[in-house]
Amino acid sequence: MKKNIYQPLKATIEEIIQETPTIKTFRLKPEADFSFATGQFIELTLPGIGEAPFTPSSDPKVKDRLELTIMNAGQVTCALHNMNKGEVVGIRGPYGLGYPLDKFKGKDILIVGGGVGLAPLRSLLFSLFSDIDKYNKVIVRYGSRSPSDIVYKDSIPKWIKKDKVDFLVSVDVGDPSWAGNVGLVTTVLNNLPVNLNNAVGIVCGPPIMMKFVTLKLLDLGFKPADIYLSMEKSMSCGLGKCGHCRIGKFYACKDGPVFTYEQLKGLPDNYL
Ligand SMILES: Cc1cc2nc3c(=O)[nH]c(=O)nc-3n(C[C@H](O)[C@H](O)[C@H](O)COP(=O)(O)OP(=O)(O)OC[C@H]3O[C@@H](n4cnc5c(N)ncnc54)[C@H](O)[C@@H]3O)c2cc1C
Ligand code: FES
Repeated sequence: MKKNIYQPLKATIEEIIQETPTIKTFRLKPEADFSFATGQFIELTLPGIGEAPFTPSSDPKVKDRLELTIMNAGQVTCALHNMNKGEVVGIRGPYGLGYPLDKFKGKDILIVGGGVGLAPLRSLLFSLFSDIDKYNKVIVRYGSRSPSDIVYKDSIPKWIKKDKVDFLVSVDVGDPSWAGNVGLVTTVLNNLPVNLNNAVGIVCGPPIMMKFVTLKLLDLGFKPADIYLSMEKSMSCGLGKCGHCRIGKFYACKDGPVFTYEQLKGLPDNYL
């Protein structure tokens, strides 16, 4: 019998981590091993409620678990945030093209994340860290609205201490508990320890942040072909059929969600 491409795989919620007041990480145990490449996305199904796309935040080398870090934004995400350990969701995918790790080998890798945009980047970090000798260095600049909005608070101090990693967090607005940098993430992109002749910039975050970080990277001298953007366009089928995710000549679900700025510049609907 022909396989139904819309049929999700069952996955049990094994653990829920409250990252911030509005963001939770869900550790799922799929009923069968599930493979994805870093930067690819899945469609999450809540029966009777709907589907929404998410990029796994976990280590792609782990096949028997899948983690999704999800902000409560609307119908599906609110229902998911109200679910408990032991309940079952559906996942289908993986879809799209992820980060081209081969092209990053031997390079300085600048990663700029904003808010829940660190979720797909966490999966990328796991991939880079496990093969760190293949890369020159990894520079991360993560921007969050406030200290309480920072995700992965347990992991970041460990990542900061890693060899060949330069990780800095900045918040838009500080509070008495915060001794770190205060300012939009674009303010911590000056004087980067990056060799522009041998570097890539990878950006993921809210559209307005992606726009201004891209402009900043161009201003600093990054080439359009060396800037990688994760385009979280509105999606439906995830399979290149419905057209919801069109960006000019591209379908974000099939040709992306990771694109270079070179591919996107000048196209309509790219929010850059
Ligand atoms: C490839 C991809 C990967 C994603 N990965 C993650 C992730 O790892 N973690 C995460 O929290 N979110 C991620 N998102 C965004 C996530 O899909 C949306 O937040 C989700 O679809 C909202 O569904 P909902 O039913 O809860 O909200 P809805 O009820 O559909 O909408 C709530 C509000 O959010 C807006 N909205 C819906 N979808 C998007 C979107 N894609 N971008 C911006 N605004 C949107 C709507 O216009 C509306 O105002 C990703 C999106 C894409 C396309
Ligand atoms: S989401 Fe349907 S074509 Fe891309």
